[in-house]
Amino acid sequence: MRNSIKKGLLASVIIVVLSFLGACSADIKDEDSTNKVKLSLDDNKIYVGFSLDTLAEDRWYKDKDAFETTIKELGGEVKTLAANGIDSVQIKQAELLIAEGVDVLVVVPHNAEVTSEIVEKAHKANVKVISYDRLIKNADVDYYISYDNKAVGKLQAAEILKKVDKGNFAYIGGAETDNNAVLIKEGAMEVLKPYIDKGQIKLVFDKYTEEWEPKKAEISMEEALKEQKNNIQAVIAANDGTAGGVIHALQKNNLNVPVTGQDAEVAAIKRILAGTQTMTVYKPIQAIAKNAAEIAMKAGKAEKIETTTTVNNGKIDVPSILLDPVVITKSNIDETVIKDQFIKKEELE
Ligand code: BGC
Repeated sequence: MRNSIKKGLLASVIIVVLSFLGACSADIKDEDSTNKVKLSLDDNKIYVGFSLDTLAEDRWYKDKDAFETTIKELGGEVKTLAANGIDSVQIKQAELLIAEGVDVLVVVPHNAEVTSEIVEKAHKANVKVISYDRLIKNADVDYYISYDNKAVGKLQAAEILKKVDKGNFAYIGGAETDNNAVLIKEGAMEVLKPYIDKGQIKLVFDKYTEEWEPKKAEISMEEALKEQKNNIQAVIAANDGTAGGVIHALQKNNLNVPVTGQDAEVAAIKRILAGTQTMTVYKPIQAIAKNAAEIAMKAGKAEKIETTTTVNNGKIDVPSILLDPVVITKSNIDETVIKDQFIKKEELE
């Protein structure tokens, strides 16, 4: 599938990029995905590059495993590189994958705008780009697959309103450079708006969290509590990582108020069981990873791909598939994440 021009490019790019990538290899856990350049690829196989922003949250390991497994089951070859949240690294890693002759590139962008450069470079090499979980903005992205992120925010706000529908609310968002964080917030605010308009709810604190870092979310929450003299009745945290930081700050002040999350991480499910976190949003990773791998293989073979909707990324309407997120509370843990083996019961002990 890959052509000789791409292979010609390989030698020169390897020399430049290899030493650089050495610094970024710590994230990658299994042997198949080390940053060693594979020189003996089977020319008849579709070769897929998976460019991850990060492996900081647990979920990305699940994405990586399920994606790689499906590509292999479908007869393809795959290499995953993770960029430790550094834009320049993600671009260099994508360049390396392109130079290695990938037939298709699947990208979880660290920065929605900056990664448009990857799309341009891939297209110049005739490589299709699939935006995975997060949308690459202002670029000719070929396909986008994600969960409905606006729905994630709506579910968070709706669930918190079941617990408390008046008083002072804090919003602790994700990374503003991630389009998902923006959409999740939009969704939550849409649900809260009528309550805010009536004056029933006051949004006393509203801040994105750089890099989705739990520690930064904790600092924001401490700031909010200080400003409000602990008078906060609910917190919408964008994901489980930020929720962890928020809950830590609340606990330091002997407070326990409703807090949302997202990702159904083991730590969050434990907190839900302990009563310190109200809910999380479960996005079955198996489904997105499998779907993306199937699309990638088809794109690599230039086969027709069925999508269900389009999402505008500021430049084009990207053919997209948006899967449905699921609310998790104390009452449905067994019939969702446990039943799906997303989490093993022993992990919760
Ligand atoms: C994902 C979340 C994840 C967050 C931080 C978002 O784009 O949709 O599932 O928690 O990034 O990695």
